[in-house]
Amino acid sequence: MLPIKHTLFIVSGVSSFIIFYMGVVNFLTSVDEGTGMILLVFSVFVATGTLLGTVHISTSITKPIQKLAKNMSEFSKTNKMSNKYQIKTNVKEIFELNENFESMGGKVEKTIEVQNEYVQKLKDMDRKKVEFSSMVSHELKTPLVPILGYVQMLQKEELLGKLNEGQKDAVDEIYTSTIKLEKLIGDILTTQKLDLGKLIFNEEDIDVSELLYGLIKEFDPIATEKKIELTANFNEDINIHSDKDRINQVFSNLIKNAIDYVPPNTGCVEIGIKNEVKHVEFFVRDNGVGISDNNKKELFKKFYQVDTSSKRKKGGSGLGLAICKGIVEGLGGEIWVESEENVQTTFFFNIPKKPVNSSINNITSRKQEINI
Ligand SMILES: Nc1ncnc2c1ncn2[C@@H]1O[C@H](COP(=O)(O)OP(=O)(O)OP(=O)(O)O)[C@@H](O)[C@H]1O
Ligand SMILES: [Mg+2]
Repeated sequence: MLPIKHTLFIVSGVSSFIIFYMGVVNFLTSVDEGTGMILLVFSVFVATGTLLGTVHISTSITKPIQKLAKNMSEFSKTNKMSNKYQIKTNVKEIFELNENFESMGGKVEKTIEVQNEYVQKLKDMDRKKVEFSSMVSHELKTPLVPILGYVQMLQKEELLGKLNEGQKDAVDEIYTSTIKLEKLIGDILTTQKLDLGKLIFNEEDIDVSELLYGLIKEFDPIATEKKIELTANFNEDINIHSDKDRINQVFSNLIKNAIDYVPPNTGCVEIGIKNEVKHVEFFVRDNGVGISDNNKKELFKKFYQVDTSSKRKKGGSGLGLAICKGIVEGLGGEIWVESEENVQTTFFFNIPKKPVNSSINNITSRKQEINI
């Protein structure tokens, strides 16, 4: 589409030419030479006057409209009204249009300012809330240390004497509940640190197969107790540079979940790794209840549990997967799930590869030497 200024120029040019041409043709054919000359000069003046008048009118309309359009587009980017937005015009309609734009722009700017203040206040409140609950969690954690210490002393009869069966059961119950409480407080603290971006990652060279063997060893007694199969699937030595304890924590959460959701006696849990070009992909697969598509989207949110019916609920707090996501993303990777209800569930996560110190290769070859 042609701009208005160009359209006016074309219209005025064509009309001036027509007036000029008509004048010349009509009058030159019907009058004598002297009068024809006067009329010719007159029609040149009229045509030039019309052209100049049109140019003047088009400029005085199009210029302020162009400026207004430019101001509007600038405002839409900055949301700030400024003095430089004023335009000069004698055209009443354009003046009113500009006044309405200035008044509307002022209101929009004010609304955005108020909204930004609220957002800032909400952010501050959220930060204070997290800091407060973090302090409370710390305070709750401190007395747990002596409680656990004394309970463990009570469990050893050589330290505080022999307990009868009832007392033993009570002490064991206190011990189990205290461990659960300690885990919950630890998970809340980790979540808060992740929210505040304060979780510290200590990167080191990791022998991945060693890490997986360690996990199998740790979870084997629980799997054996439930009569389920726990296997590791990998056939190459991979070394990465990342946070070993945190990767261990992610794996532990995923393995614990998998063990919880497979049926006893027929359940299988498999852990493994895949060596990709830019990252190492880890997985934990189980043949348990599975997860529906709807639940998959929510799974990694804090405190989310699939359903709270006693049949499914295993007594956790719903923080495990949120922590896994926070840690994996903090280490520069991704976590996701693939599942088919009542068939299988696989949790995947990947960790980017970074240059590994040569010392790790020595560790690996030493390990291989021992194995041989
Ligand atoms: N392997 C799995 N198979 C089926 N459902 C699962 C599996 N892993 C997780 N879920 C579902 O996802 C929910 C969230 O898991 P998440 O680990 O975050 O919390 P949790 O295990 O309930 O508690 P915790 O904080 O102690 O880990 C679980 O409650 C469970 O319903
Ligand atoms: Mg869990």
